[in-house]
Order: sequence, then C-alpha cells, then structure tokens
Amino acid sequence: MRTVYLDNNATTMVAAEVVEEMLPYLREYYGNPSSMHTFGGQVGHKITEARQKIASLLGADLDEIIITSCGTESDNTAIMSALANNPQKTHIITSRVEHPAVKVLCEHLAQKGYRVTFVPVDSEGRLDMDAYEASLTPDTAVVSIMWANNETGAIFPVEHLARLAHEKGILFHTDAVQAVGKIPVNMKQNAIDMLSLSGHKLHAPKGVGVLYVRKGTKFSPFLIGGHQEKGRRGGTENVPSIVGLGKACELAAANMEKENTYVRDLRDRLEKELCAAIPNCKINGTTDERLPNTLNISFEFIEGESILLLMDQFGICASSGSACTSGSLQPSHVLRAMGVPYTMAHGSIRFSLSVYNTAEDIDLVIRELPPIIERLRVLSPYWATSQGACATA
Ligand SMILES: Cc1ncc(COP(=O)(O)O)c(C=O)c1O
Repeated sequence: MRTVYLDNNATTMVAAEVVEEMLPYLREYYGNPSSMHTFGGQVGHKITEARQKIASLLGADLDEIIITSCGTESDNTAIMSALANNPQKTHIITSRVEHPAVKVLCEHLAQKGYRVTFVPVDSEGRLDMDAYEASLTPDTAVVSIMWANNETGAIFPVEHLARLAHEKGILFHTDAVQAVGKIPVNMKQNAIDMLSLSGHKLHAPKGVGVLYVRKGTKFSPFLIGGHQEKGRRGGTENVPSIVGLGKACELAAANMEKENTYVRDLRDRLEKELCAAIPNCKINGTTDERLPNTLNISFEFIEGESILLLMDQFGICASSGSACTSGSLQPSHVLRAMGVPYTMAHGSIRFSLSVYNTAEDIDLVIRELPPIIERLRVLSPYWATSQGACATA
C-alpha cells in the first residue's frame, strides 16, 4: 500500500539530496573536526560550509549560528540563557499555545519561583495583543513566543512583538521550528534576539537543530563542556546531520516559492473539497496568517483518533488534536486555549503537507475521508442526538 504522508509538522522525509550529502560523512570522513590532522580538519571545513548554508537561509552571520541537537534544546538554551544573564529579573512571558519545548519548561520555571505570563489567544488562535503589551514589565527577563503554531499553522507577528519587547529592554526569543523553510525568515530585517529551528521539520535528519543568537546578545551556554561552537555548546559535533542540515537549508531556500504556491494550492484544494463534502466541519485557526502547508479541521461529534485509525487503512498519515492522557482523550492545550468546543476539538485532524506531496495524495483523502466520517457518525450517539434522533444507551 502506498503511504500518503500528510504529517510533515510532526517530522519530514529526509530529502534524497540530503542523504547523498551526508553519506560520505558516515562512511569515509569520520574524523573529529577538532583534530589537528588534515583528516579531521577537512570535516571542520564541511561544517563551516553547512553553517554558511544555514546562515544564508536565515539571513544571519556565521557566528550567530549555534548548532544544537534539536528544537527542544534550542528553546531551552535560549530561555535559560536569558534568565542567567538577567538574574535580577524574575518574569517570563510566553503564549498559551506554545509547543511543550517552551510550555513545559516555563511551567517548570514557574514551580521554581519565576512568574510566568501565558498570553491568551482568541478563537482563531491569534495572540491577544492588549494582554501581551500589558504583560511587558521592567521585571521581564525574556519573551518566548512561537513564529508559527505547529497545530493550526497560525503565524504570530513576532517581528512586531520583538519591537514592543525591545522598547521595554526585554530580550525576545522565538520558536521558529515550524516557520523556517515554510515562510521567509530574514534576521537582517527584524530585531529578534534568538530563534530556534529543528532539522527534522525541513527534510534534514532528526537530532540536529540550531539556535540563532544575534550578535551582541549576552549568552550563557546550556551544555557546558568542550570548546565546540566557540564554547557556546559543548559536545563533539554530529557531523553527518550538520552536513545534512546545511543541504536541507539550501533546498528549503530553493523550494520556498513552491511551498507558497504548489503546496498552498494543494492544501487549499484539500480544505475546500472536504468542507464541501462533509457537513458540520470547521477549520481551526486563522486562515489569513497561516503556514501554507497546514490544515487543522474538526469534524463534529466524532473522535479524531478513530478518524486516524480508519485513514491509516488507506495509508493516509495525519495527526489528531487530542492526546490520550491517563486513559482519557484530552483535546490539545492549543485547541482548548482557542475555546474550541469539546464536540469539535475531539474530532480535529491536522494535515500538514510538503513539497513531496502530489495531487494524487490529495485526491485520495478527498475520496476516502467523507465516507469515513459518515461511517463514524452513524456510530456516534452525539451525532444522532444532534440530528434529532434518540441516542441509544
Ligand atoms: C513548534 C515546535 N517547537 C519545538 C519542537 C521540538 O523540536 P524537536 O523535536 O527538534 O525537539 C517542535 C516539534 O514538534 C515544534 O513543532
């Protein structure tokens, strides 16, 4: 059975060109880039080449790129560094819809005594700007707000948010894990101090990420050890993955237009056809400022997990907006923050596309999903009640 992979916000296929670029660094060039000999030194040159490609995608300088192991490490490093450099300040600002890499860290810091403001969003997943501005105080050490949301694709006005934070002398970090490679990011044109990205979201392998730190920003390392990354992140470099990330950044720059035309068109067709074929469905999140590859859609009165299981029989891969926590299905914190009603939130599915999807992939979902929804609704007592029928016990 063919796999129709529409879960690219979870992780992406490693591009063939990326694998090709990595292979020599797994097979032949295994030297340590810190070694004095030529054999290791040539590996160091390849890392510099990869760093140049990463910097170029971000509009950054070479020294502003710190290579890490993942988006989570980058997020943790940024926030902990800001706190370490502002020991007299005890307030952190973030949003209610962050990825756990930021959310859970901030909750942990709240338990340790920091005051954390989780800025709310509206029903479309847009940040409450009044609440944001009101939360900026002289005691705020750092703001960490994502560039784009992983569940809904909603894009936040981070460049504007960073300016507002700077007016109050506050550092601004953004988790751009879902934004980089999908929408243009140019650090020369904004005032954001720190930015996180993750390789496996843009067709590089898992286990490599980047923290951008603007020149002049005070920085404290999270991983203390060797002199790697100019003493800003100890640990022998994951050379093949770094080389792969460089290639993936080069491809992302080349594919940016396709992402915003071809991929957007596929996503829009999927959205339009599903909404036309299926009653009682709703798009979650703003459709104005949204990543071109993401569609989060709720089918009322049924469970997202059941939809996923039935789609799986056709090889269709997507995600649901509910997670099984201690035996019960809970809608995600993102949908809850948006106030999506439970009957809708439980039936939410996230489709996330990439440049490797085809029109045939979308055709398959458009053909197979409406009967799946119909089948599940026949079994749903809530659907029966909503249609005026008596629900059976
Ligand atoms: C918005 C966002 N931030 C951070 C992460 C964590 O990245 P990583 O898996 O590389 O740790 C993810 C991964 O899903 C994400 O979507």
